[in-house]
Amino acid sequence: MKILVTGATGGVGRLVVERLAGAGAQVRAVTRTPEKAGLPAAVEIVEGDPSRPDTLAPHLDGVEAVFLHSRTIGTAADRLLALAAERGARRVAALSALNVDDPLDLQPSRLRGDRNKEAEAAAVASGLAWTSLRASAFASNALQAWGAQIRRGDVVRYVYAAFQESPLDERDLAEAASLALLTDDLAGRRLELTGPQSLSHEEMVAVIGEVIGRPLRFEEVPPEAIAHHMIGIGLPEPFVRALMDRYTHYAGQEQHPVTGDLEKVLGRPPRTFADWVADHAAAFQAHDPS
Ligand SMILES: NC(=O)c1ccc[n+]([C@@H]2O[C@H](COP(=O)([O-])OP(=O)(O)OC[C@H]3O[C@@H](n4cnc5c(N)ncnc54)[C@H](OP(=O)(O)O)[C@@H]3O)[C@@H](O)[C@H]2O)c1
Repeated sequence: MKILVTGATGGVGRLVVERLAGAGAQVRAVTRTPEKAGLPAAVEIVEGDPSRPDTLAPHLDGVEAVFLHSRTIGTAADRLLALAAERGARRVAALSALNVDDPLDLQPSRLRGDRNKEAEAAAVASGLAWTSLRASAFASNALQAWGAQIRRGDVVRYVYAAFQESPLDERDLAEAASLALLTDDLAGRRLELTGPQSLSHEEMVAVIGEVIGRPLRFEEVPPEAIAHHMIGIGLPEPFVRALMDRYTHYAGQEQHPVTGDLEKVLGRPPRTFADWVADHAAAFQAHDPS
Protein backbone atom coordinates (compact mmCIF):
# COMPACT_ATOMS: atom_id res chain seq x y z
CA MET A 1 0.00 0.00 0.00
CA LYS A 2 1.37 3.43 -0.97
CA ILE A 3 0.83 6.33 1.44
CA LEU A 4 1.59 10.00 0.83
CA VAL A 5 2.86 11.75 3.96
CA THR A 6 2.86 15.56 4.00
CA GLY A 7 4.93 17.33 6.65
CA ALA A 8 7.13 14.23 6.52
CA THR A 9 10.32 15.93 7.71
CA GLY A 10 8.75 17.45 10.82
CA GLY A 11 8.26 16.35 14.40
CA VAL A 12 5.07 14.34 13.80
CA GLY A 13 5.64 13.45 10.15
CA ARG A 14 8.96 11.68 10.76
CA LEU A 15 7.30 9.47 13.36
CA VAL A 16 4.39 8.72 11.02
CA VAL A 17 6.84 7.80 8.25
CA GLU A 18 8.78 5.53 10.62
CA ARG A 19 5.65 3.85 11.85
CA LEU A 20 4.20 3.24 8.37
CA ALA A 21 7.50 1.95 6.98
CA GLY A 22 7.77 -0.36 10.01
CA ALA A 23 4.32 -1.72 9.19
CA GLY A 24 5.48 -2.54 5.67
CA ALA A 25 3.73 0.29 3.82
CA GLN A 26 5.38 2.08 0.90
CA VAL A 27 5.82 5.65 2.04
CA ARG A 28 6.04 8.63 -0.30
CA ALA A 29 7.35 11.48 1.83
CA VAL A 30 6.71 15.07 0.77
CA THR A 31 9.19 17.85 1.43
CA ARG A 32 9.98 21.21 -0.10
CA THR A 33 13.71 20.46 0.16
CA PRO A 34 14.56 16.80 -0.54
CA GLU A 35 18.29 17.38 -0.08
CA LYS A 36 17.67 18.23 3.59
CA ALA A 37 15.06 15.54 4.30
CA GLY A 38 17.27 13.09 6.19
CA LEU A 39 14.68 10.32 6.02
CA PRO A 40 15.43 6.56 5.98
CA ALA A 41 16.78 5.23 2.68
CA ALA A 42 13.78 2.95 2.18
CA VAL A 43 11.44 5.92 1.99
CA GLU A 44 10.60 7.51 -1.36
CA ILE A 45 11.13 11.23 -1.07
CA VAL A 46 9.30 13.61 -3.40
CA GLU A 47 9.62 17.34 -3.79
CA GLY A 48 6.44 19.36 -3.40
CA ASP A 49 4.61 21.92 -1.33
CA PRO A 50 1.16 20.84 -0.10
CA SER A 51 0.04 24.47 -0.03
CA ARG A 52 0.50 24.39 -3.84
CA PRO A 53 -1.20 21.08 -4.71
CA ASP A 54 -0.17 21.21 -8.38
CA THR A 55 3.40 20.54 -7.20
CA LEU A 56 2.13 17.21 -5.81
CA ALA A 57 0.00 16.20 -8.80
CA PRO A 58 2.81 14.11 -10.35
CA HIS A 59 3.22 12.20 -7.09
CA LEU A 60 -0.36 11.13 -6.45
CA ASP A 61 -0.61 8.18 -8.82
CA GLY A 62 -0.95 4.90 -6.96
CA VAL A 63 -1.43 6.64 -3.60
CA GLU A 64 -4.07 4.93 -1.50
CA ALA A 65 -3.99 7.13 1.61
CA VAL A 66 -2.88 10.67 2.49
CA PHE A 67 -1.56 12.03 5.78
CA LEU A 68 -2.67 15.67 5.70
CA HIS A 69 -0.42 17.81 7.87
CA SER A 70 -2.05 20.99 9.13
CA ARG A 71 1.14 23.11 9.08
CA THR A 72 1.77 22.48 5.40
CA ILE A 73 -1.52 23.07 3.62
CA GLY A 74 -2.18 26.82 3.67
CA THR A 75 -5.52 27.35 1.95
CA ALA A 76 -5.19 24.30 -0.32
CA ALA A 77 -6.36 21.29 1.69
CA ASP A 78 -9.59 20.84 -0.32
CA ARG A 79 -7.79 21.06 -3.64
CA LEU A 80 -5.08 18.62 -2.58
CA LEU A 81 -7.61 16.02 -1.44
CA ALA A 82 -9.70 16.49 -4.59
CA LEU A 83 -6.60 15.77 -6.70
CA ALA A 84 -5.77 12.74 -4.55
CA ALA A 85 -9.32 11.40 -4.88
CA GLU A 86 -9.24 11.90 -8.68
CA ARG A 87 -6.06 9.80 -8.81
CA GLY A 88 -7.61 6.98 -6.80
CA ALA A 89 -6.86 7.69 -3.15
CA ARG A 90 -9.36 6.13 -0.72
CA ARG A 91 -8.38 7.36 2.70
CA VAL A 92 -7.17 10.48 4.53
CA ALA A 93 -5.97 11.11 8.08
CA ALA A 94 -5.83 14.79 8.98
CA LEU A 95 -3.57 16.16 11.71
CA SER A 96 -5.75 18.53 13.71
CA ALA A 97 -5.96 19.85 17.26
CA LEU A 98 -8.23 19.54 20.28
CA ASN A 99 -8.86 23.27 20.23
CA VAL A 100 -10.32 23.39 16.69
CA ASP A 101 -13.76 24.33 17.92
CA ASP A 102 -12.43 27.17 20.11
CA PRO A 103 -12.79 30.75 18.82
CA LEU A 104 -10.09 31.28 16.17
CA ASP A 105 -8.42 34.03 18.21
CA LEU A 106 -7.80 31.45 20.97
CA GLN A 107 -5.92 29.20 18.54
CA PRO A 108 -2.48 30.87 18.60
CA SER A 109 -0.93 28.44 16.13
CA ARG A 110 -3.08 29.91 13.36
CA LEU A 111 -0.80 32.94 13.56
CA ARG A 112 2.09 30.68 12.56
CA GLY A 113 0.08 29.46 9.56
CA ASP A 114 -1.32 26.22 11.03
CA ARG A 115 -4.71 25.24 9.65
CA ASN A 116 -6.02 22.50 11.95
CA LYS A 117 -9.65 23.46 11.42
CA GLU A 118 -9.34 23.53 7.64
CA ALA A 119 -7.41 20.23 7.57
CA GLU A 120 -10.20 18.47 9.43
CA ALA A 121 -12.96 20.16 7.40
CA ALA A 122 -11.29 19.25 4.10
CA ALA A 123 -10.90 15.62 5.18
CA VAL A 124 -14.54 15.41 6.23
CA ALA A 125 -15.74 16.93 2.95
CA SER A 126 -13.35 14.96 0.74
CA GLY A 127 -15.53 11.95 0.01
CA LEU A 128 -12.59 9.79 1.16
CA ALA A 129 -12.70 7.58 4.25
CA TRP A 130 -11.51 10.22 6.72
CA THR A 131 -10.16 10.38 10.26
CA SER A 132 -9.41 13.59 12.15
CA LEU A 133 -6.61 13.35 14.71
CA ARG A 134 -7.51 16.07 17.17
CA ALA A 135 -4.29 16.20 19.18
CA SER A 136 -3.83 17.72 22.62
CA ALA A 137 -0.64 19.63 23.48
CA PHE A 138 2.45 17.74 22.36
CA ALA A 139 4.83 16.57 25.09
CA SER A 140 7.65 18.12 23.08
CA ASN A 141 6.22 21.59 23.76
CA ALA A 142 7.88 21.28 27.18
CA LEU A 143 11.28 21.01 25.58
CA GLN A 144 10.62 23.96 23.31
CA ALA A 145 9.27 26.13 26.12
CA TRP A 146 11.62 25.19 28.96
CA GLY A 147 14.56 23.24 27.52
CA ALA A 148 16.97 26.17 27.36
CA GLN A 149 16.22 27.24 30.96
CA ILE A 150 16.60 23.69 32.27
CA ARG A 151 19.90 23.22 30.47
CA ARG A 152 21.11 26.43 32.15
CA GLY A 153 19.85 25.90 35.69
CA ASP A 154 17.22 24.57 38.07
CA VAL A 155 14.61 27.35 37.88
CA VAL A 156 11.93 27.44 35.20
CA ARG A 157 10.28 30.82 34.82
CA TYR A 158 7.02 30.68 32.91
CA VAL A 159 3.40 31.78 33.05
CA TYR A 160 0.62 30.30 35.16
CA ALA A 161 1.94 27.49 37.39
CA ALA A 162 -1.57 26.03 37.57
CA PHE A 163 -2.37 26.05 33.83
CA GLN A 164 -3.26 22.46 33.08
CA GLU A 165 -3.41 20.24 29.99
CA SER A 166 -2.88 16.59 29.01
CA PRO A 167 0.44 16.26 27.16
CA LEU A 168 0.44 13.78 24.29
CA ASP A 169 3.47 11.72 23.28
CA GLU A 170 3.90 12.31 19.54
CA ARG A 171 4.85 8.64 19.07
CA ASP A 172 1.35 7.66 20.19
CA LEU A 173 -0.14 10.25 17.84
CA ALA A 174 1.90 8.75 14.99
CA GLU A 175 0.72 5.26 15.90
CA ALA A 176 -2.91 6.40 15.80
CA ALA A 177 -2.24 8.14 12.47
CA SER A 178 -0.77 5.01 10.96
CA LEU A 179 -3.81 2.96 12.03
CA ALA A 180 -6.08 5.54 10.42
CA LEU A 181 -4.03 5.39 7.20
CA LEU A 182 -3.64 1.62 6.96
CA THR A 183 -7.16 0.49 7.86
CA ASP A 184 -10.77 1.69 7.71
CA ASP A 185 -11.23 0.99 11.42
CA LEU A 186 -11.09 4.66 12.44
CA ALA A 187 -12.98 6.08 9.46
CA GLY A 188 -15.52 8.82 10.07
CA ARG A 189 -14.18 9.73 13.52
CA ARG A 190 -12.89 12.89 15.13
CA LEU A 191 -10.50 11.32 17.62
CA GLU A 192 -9.76 13.38 20.71
CA LEU A 193 -6.22 12.29 21.48
CA THR A 194 -4.73 13.21 24.86
CA GLY A 195 -2.01 11.82 27.05
CA PRO A 196 -3.06 9.76 30.09
CA GLN A 197 -2.70 12.52 32.73
CA SER A 198 -3.72 16.11 33.05
CA LEU A 199 -0.76 18.06 34.48
CA SER A 200 -0.19 21.69 35.42
CA HIS A 201 2.87 23.58 34.23
CA GLU A 202 4.30 23.25 37.73
CA GLU A 203 3.64 19.50 37.81
CA MET A 204 5.24 18.98 34.39
CA VAL A 205 8.39 20.75 35.54
CA ALA A 206 8.41 18.57 38.68
CA VAL A 207 8.12 15.43 36.51
CA ILE A 208 11.05 16.58 34.37
CA GLY A 209 13.10 17.19 37.54
CA GLU A 210 12.29 13.74 38.94
CA VAL A 211 13.10 11.97 35.69
CA ILE A 212 16.41 13.76 35.03
CA GLY A 213 17.35 13.78 38.74
CA ARG A 214 17.52 17.53 39.27
CA PRO A 215 15.76 19.75 41.87
CA LEU A 216 13.82 21.85 39.36
CA ARG A 217 11.59 24.62 40.64
CA PHE A 218 8.79 26.43 38.79
CA GLU A 219 8.61 30.18 39.26
CA GLU A 220 5.50 31.88 37.94
CA VAL A 221 6.09 35.14 36.11
CA PRO A 222 3.59 37.50 34.47
CA PRO A 223 2.66 36.90 30.81
CA GLU A 224 4.14 40.25 29.79
CA ALA A 225 7.62 39.22 30.94
CA ILE A 226 7.50 35.92 29.06
CA ALA A 227 6.05 37.59 25.98
CA HIS A 228 8.90 40.11 26.00
CA HIS A 229 11.44 37.27 26.21
CA MET A 230 9.82 35.17 23.46
CA ILE A 231 9.57 38.12 21.07
CA GLY A 232 13.21 38.91 21.91
CA ILE A 233 14.35 35.48 20.76
CA GLY A 234 12.57 35.91 17.45
CA LEU A 235 9.08 34.43 17.80
CA PRO A 236 6.44 36.40 15.87
CA GLU A 237 4.78 38.94 18.15
CA PRO A 238 1.15 38.23 17.07
CA PHE A 239 1.68 34.53 17.82
CA VAL A 240 3.24 35.26 21.23
CA ARG A 241 0.43 37.67 22.16
CA ALA A 242 -2.23 35.12 21.15
CA LEU A 243 -0.45 32.39 23.13
CA MET A 244 -0.41 34.56 26.26
CA ASP A 245 -4.09 35.44 25.72
CA ARG A 246 -4.92 31.74 25.51
CA TYR A 247 -3.07 31.01 28.76
CA THR A 248 -4.83 33.90 30.49
CA HIS A 249 -8.24 32.90 29.12
CA TYR A 250 -7.96 29.29 30.29
CA ALA A 251 -5.81 29.81 33.39
CA GLY A 252 -8.54 28.93 35.85
CA GLN A 253 -9.82 25.77 34.18
CA GLU A 254 -8.46 22.43 33.05
CA GLN A 255 -7.66 22.59 29.33
CA HIS A 256 -8.56 19.44 27.50
CA PRO A 257 -8.97 16.87 30.24
CA VAL A 258 -7.97 13.29 29.55
CA THR A 259 -10.15 11.44 27.06
CA GLY A 260 -10.07 7.69 26.65
CA ASP A 261 -9.84 7.81 22.84
CA LEU A 262 -6.14 7.11 22.50
CA GLU A 263 -6.18 4.10 24.82
CA LYS A 264 -9.12 2.63 22.90
CA VAL A 265 -7.43 3.22 19.54
CA LEU A 266 -4.05 1.80 20.60
CA GLY A 267 -5.43 -1.00 22.77
CA ARG A 268 -3.00 -0.03 25.54
CA PRO A 269 -2.50 2.94 27.86
CA PRO A 270 -0.87 5.93 26.16
CA ARG A 271 2.69 6.82 27.12
CA THR A 272 2.97 9.13 30.13
CA PHE A 273 4.69 12.50 30.17
CA ALA A 274 7.37 10.89 32.36
CA ASP A 275 7.92 8.25 29.64
CA TRP A 276 8.41 11.01 27.09
CA VAL A 277 10.85 12.90 29.32
CA ALA A 278 12.84 9.72 30.06
CA ASP A 279 13.25 9.11 26.34
CA HIS A 280 14.36 12.71 25.73
CA ALA A 281 16.29 13.29 28.97
CA ALA A 282 19.56 14.17 27.22
CA ALA A 283 17.89 17.16 25.57
CA PHE A 284 17.26 18.71 29.01
CA GLN A 285 20.79 18.18 30.31
CA ALA A 286 23.50 20.81 30.06
CA HIS A 287 26.15 19.93 27.52
CA ASP A 288 29.27 18.69 29.28
CA PRO A 289 31.96 21.24 28.32
CA SER A 290 34.83 18.81 29.15
N1 LIG B 1 2.42 21.50 19.33
C1 LIG B 1 1.24 21.12 19.75
O1 LIG B 1 0.99 21.04 20.96
C2 LIG B 1 0.15 20.75 18.77
C3 LIG B 1 -1.05 20.20 19.24
C4 LIG B 1 -2.04 19.88 18.30
C5 LIG B 1 -1.83 20.11 16.95
N2 LIG B 1 -0.65 20.67 16.55
C6 LIG B 1 -0.45 20.93 15.12
O2 LIG B 1 0.59 20.10 14.63
C7 LIG B 1 1.29 20.79 13.60
C8 LIG B 1 2.78 20.81 13.93
O3 LIG B 1 3.29 19.53 13.71
P1 LIG B 1 4.88 19.30 13.62
O4 LIG B 1 5.46 19.63 14.94
O5 LIG B 1 5.09 17.97 13.04
O6 LIG B 1 5.29 20.44 12.56
P2 LIG B 1 6.73 20.87 12.04
O7 LIG B 1 7.74 19.86 12.46
O8 LIG B 1 7.00 22.30 12.39
O9 LIG B 1 6.51 20.91 10.45
C9 LIG B 1 6.26 19.82 9.67
C10 LIG B 1 6.80 20.03 8.27
O10 LIG B 1 5.95 20.86 7.53
C11 LIG B 1 6.67 21.54 6.48
N3 LIG B 1 6.26 22.94 6.57
C12 LIG B 1 6.45 23.78 7.61
N4 LIG B 1 5.95 25.01 7.32
C13 LIG B 1 5.42 24.92 6.07
C14 LIG B 1 4.75 25.84 5.21
N5 LIG B 1 4.52 27.11 5.61
N6 LIG B 1 4.33 25.42 4.01
C15 LIG B 1 4.55 24.16 3.60
N7 LIG B 1 5.20 23.23 4.38
C16 LIG B 1 5.61 23.62 5.59
C17 LIG B 1 8.14 21.32 6.77
O11 LIG B 1 8.62 20.35 5.83
P3 LIG B 1 9.61 20.72 4.62
O12 LIG B 1 10.40 21.93 5.02
O13 LIG B 1 10.46 19.48 4.52
O14 LIG B 1 8.75 20.93 3.43
C18 LIG B 1 8.14 20.73 8.19
O15 LIG B 1 9.18 19.79 8.40
C19 LIG B 1 0.73 22.19 13.52
O16 LIG B 1 -0.19 22.34 12.47
C20 LIG B 1 0.06 22.35 14.87
O17 LIG B 1 -0.99 23.29 14.88
C21 LIG B 1 0.35 20.96 17.41
